[in-house]
Amino acid sequence: MSLINEKEQSTIQPHGGALINREVYGAEREQLLKEAETLASITLNPWSLSDLELIAIGGFSPLTGFMNQNDYTNVVEHLHLDNGLVWSIPITLPVTTAQSQNLNIGSRVALYGEDGVLYGVIDLEEKYTYDKQKEAQLVYGTTDVDHPGVKKVYEKGDVYLAGPIYLLNRPKHDEFVDYHLDPKETRQLFTDLGWQTVVGFQTRNPVHRAHEYIQKAALEAVDGLLLNPLVGETKSDDIPASVRMESYQVILENYYPENKTRLVIYPAAMRYAGPREAILHATVRKNYGCTHFIVGRDHAGVGDYYGTYEAQELIARYEAELGIQILKFEHAFYCKTCENMATAKTCPHDASAHLHLSGTKVREKLKNGETLPKEFSRPEVAQVLINGLKEQK
Ligand code: ADX
Repeated sequence: MSLINEKEQSTIQPHGGALINREVYGAEREQLLKEAETLASITLNPWSLSDLELIAIGGFSPLTGFMNQNDYTNVVEHLHLDNGLVWSIPITLPVTTAQSQNLNIGSRVALYGEDGVLYGVIDLEEKYTYDKQKEAQLVYGTTDVDHPGVKKVYEKGDVYLAGPIYLLNRPKHDEFVDYHLDPKETRQLFTDLGWQTVVGFQTRNPVHRAHEYIQKAALEAVDGLLLNPLVGETKSDDIPASVRMESYQVILENYYPENKTRLVIYPAAMRYAGPREAILHATVRKNYGCTHFIVGRDHAGVGDYYGTYEAQELIARYEAELGIQILKFEHAFYCKTCENMATAKTCPHDASAHLHLSGTKVREKLKNGETLPKEFSRPEVAQVLINGLKEQK
C-alpha cells in the first residue's frame, strides 16, 4: 500500500511536503472490508464523512487521520500542528460519551455513513474530552450559539476519537461526477494544461459580479483559475450546491475563457469560521495544487461576527509559513458612474454611485422573488437560480 501519492506534478509542494493518500485498494481493501464486519462501529454524520474523505484524498495533507489531543490543543491555541506546521481548524471525530465507552484504544473502529455504507476504518489511538466553550471562542471567535459553526460545536458529542484512517469506499458525488477531482488529479490537470500558476477560488455562493471581478483580476496575473466551490454541508438558507453547480457551468460557458478556467468541487463542510477558515481554505487549495488563493471581504464569514478584512489580516500573518500566495481583494461593488465593477482602490466616485452586492443580498432578492439586476448577476446565472430555487420548493 502506498499512503503517499508518489507522482507529484504541480509546482507547489503539498502542505508538509507530501500528498497523503489513505484510500486502500485491492486485496488490502478486501481484507479490511472483511475485518470491519467484526469491528465496533460508529455512524458518521455528513460533516465527519466529508472530513474523512478530505483526509483520505490528501485535501487535508499532512493529516493522515483525525487529530489527537496534542495536535488539537496546538491548533486551537496556537494555529499549528504539534509538528510545527501551520493549521487553523481542528479536524476531529466527535462521538458521545456513551458511544466512546464501547470503543477501545488500540483497536480498529468501522466508520459507516448515515446511508449504511461502510466508508472506512480508524485505528483508534486516543479518545479525549475537550472544552467546547474554548473551542468556540478560539476557533470561531465567539461562544454565541446563533453562530452556525458554534452551534455545531455545542451539538456534537463530548469525546473526540483520534487516529489514522483508511478509506474503503468513496463517498459518491453523483450529481457532480464531471467536476469531482482529487488533489492528485487537479495537480495532474494543471500540469497537462501547462499552468504553472493557478489561483484557487473558494465559494459557497453563486458567482456574482463581485466574485467575477476579483477572479478575473487575479487571472490577469496567473495562468489559470480553479473555481472550487464548497459542496459539503452548508447552513439551510445557503443556496443548495446542485443549483449553484449549474450556475457555475453557465457562467463559465458564457463569460470565461475555456482554456483558463476549471470547475472542481470542494467536498467539505462549511464552518463559517471566518479568518481561521480562510487559512484552512488556502491550505487545502495548496494541496489541490493552487499557487495562489483569493481572500476577499469577510471570507467565510457569517452575520457580523468578523470584521470585513479580519480574514485577510489573520492570513497575512501566516502567509509565509503557508507557502501559498494570498491575493487579497477589497470590497468590490458596481459603480453606476464608472459603469463598471470597482473597489475603493480603483473608483473615485461617491458611495451614492455604488451598488454593493454579496451572496446574502443575492439570496434575499431571490427569496423575495425579486429579479437580479445585471449589475448583481449575469442574466444566465439569475435564470438558473430562479429556476433551481423554484424546483426546490
Ligand atoms: S465564502 O464563505 O465562501 O467565503 P463567498 O462565496 O461569498 O463566501 O465568497 C467567496 C470569496 O469571494 C471570498 O474570498 C470572499 O471574501 C470574496 N467576496 C465575496 N463578495 C465579495 C465582494 N463584494 N468584494 C470582494 N470580495 C468578495
